[in-house]
Amino acid sequence: MSAGNSAGNEDAERAHTLWHGRFEGGPAAELMAFTESLSFDRRLWPDDIAGSRAHVAGLARASLINELERDSILAALDDVASELADGSFVFVPTDEDIHTAVERRVTELAGPAGGKLHTGRSRNDQSATDVRLWCKRELRVIAERVVVLQEVLLRRAVEAGEVYLPGYTHMQRAQPVLLAHHLLAHGWALGRGVDRIFDALERIDISPLGAGALAGSSLPLDPDGTAADLGFARRFENSLDAVGSRDHIAEALFVLTLIAIDLSRIGEEFVLWTTEEFGFAKLDDGYATGSSMMPQKKNPDIAELARGKAGRIIGALTGFLATMKGLPLSYNRDYQEDKEPLFDTVDQVRLALGAITGMIATTTFVAERMQAAADVETTAATDLAEWLVVRGMPFREAHAVVGALVRQALQGDRSLRELVLAHEALGSDAAVLVAPGVSVRRRTTPGGAGPVPVAAQMDRFRSELARLKEALRG
Ligand code: ARG
Repeated sequence: MSAGNSAGNEDAERAHTLWHGRFEGGPAAELMAFTESLSFDRRLWPDDIAGSRAHVAGLARASLINELERDSILAALDDVASELADGSFVFVPTDEDIHTAVERRVTELAGPAGGKLHTGRSRNDQSATDVRLWCKRELRVIAERVVVLQEVLLRRAVEAGEVYLPGYTHMQRAQPVLLAHHLLAHGWALGRGVDRIFDALERIDISPLGAGALAGSSLPLDPDGTAADLGFARRFENSLDAVGSRDHIAEALFVLTLIAIDLSRIGEEFVLWTTEEFGFAKLDDGYATGSSMMPQKKNPDIAELARGKAGRIIGALTGFLATMKGLPLSYNRDYQEDKEPLFDTVDQVRLALGAITGMIATTTFVAERMQAAADVETTAATDLAEWLVVRGMPFREAHAVVGALVRQALQGDRSLRELVLAHEALGSDAAVLVAPGVSVRRRTTPGGAGPVPVAAQMDRFRSELARLKEALRG
């Protein structure tokens, strides 16, 4: 497809698309309405301008345009950028996408030189370049915000000192754990999310510019030069792959989805912890909502939406995977569908990170309620069995002995402590284990939930945070 050099009268009467030369009639309104992407890809404009600047510089280096032409296109690109930045840019109905809009306006401003901007380039390599540039910037922002949340978790963990709560399996009280241990568990998971972003960025950081529509060019373009100008780590190796793949977008969506899932799990815990039934946490007024009808309500809407929005984010990932499935090489218009799920997911994860971070930073943890729930005698059952093991009893036997005592305690009117005191193999030394606050201190193994290993874990978490922050600076 070639753009006509001169617009005749007939052309002027028709709607001016980038591809009108080949067509007799203008595009149908329904076609424009259905296929346009300007409504969502206009936010790519800074990247589109950056990509065009690099492309124009490359055209001049290849002597495909002279220096005057280069400078007038670059000046027009500056003007277009200011118009887009200050909102004075006027879009017209034939601006199908941001690439079309920018090129149209450059041509208006730069005159004939503007018509040379798209030399050797296709919107296929152009839009792929824009989205990769956008991802590089926006995924870094997400990574930075995840690290801020990790820092808040660490601060709250330090403040929590030796406060403990029940650890749960199957959502049943299991063994006591330090609150710090619980908060840091989320911190470690989020750190893996940051590492996954770094991993994904390695595959995103590749310039497709110079692949053209699908096959490269007959013109002496220099994809290495434009890749370097744009700050990409390298250029594509295969032009079909450069414009005809989106696995890096699917990967970004997956990595973001896992972060959204981490946030949804934190959200679910805060929903539970702030119930009157649990009473483990009280939300700050700034991070809770009220009811339009029931005056007494204080609701954990941030936590609920962190949970709820994860559903839509999973949908964006699975929807896009389905879009990619079965697409033949190379570019297919289906790929335009990469942007909405990507933009929405990045927006929602960024907003969720800010809200969850603020919520955790300002929550009051109710130590008395947490510890009272952890201090029920039964959460020390494993300690009792292990006490017997240390004195020579096989673990399976010890498990049965303590299990029988727990059953008796639950059925009868004697407490577990009383039964332990009365038991011939246990007695008063063992009974100490069921006293409040004792069990958690006995979690002493590396990576365990008690004060000694948690102190060491905190040091390691600090180093981990320093490593991630250093990587973000690099
Ligand atoms: N808006 C399009 C996209 O996002 C640009 C590419 C259009 N290319 C084409 N051959 N129609 O993918």
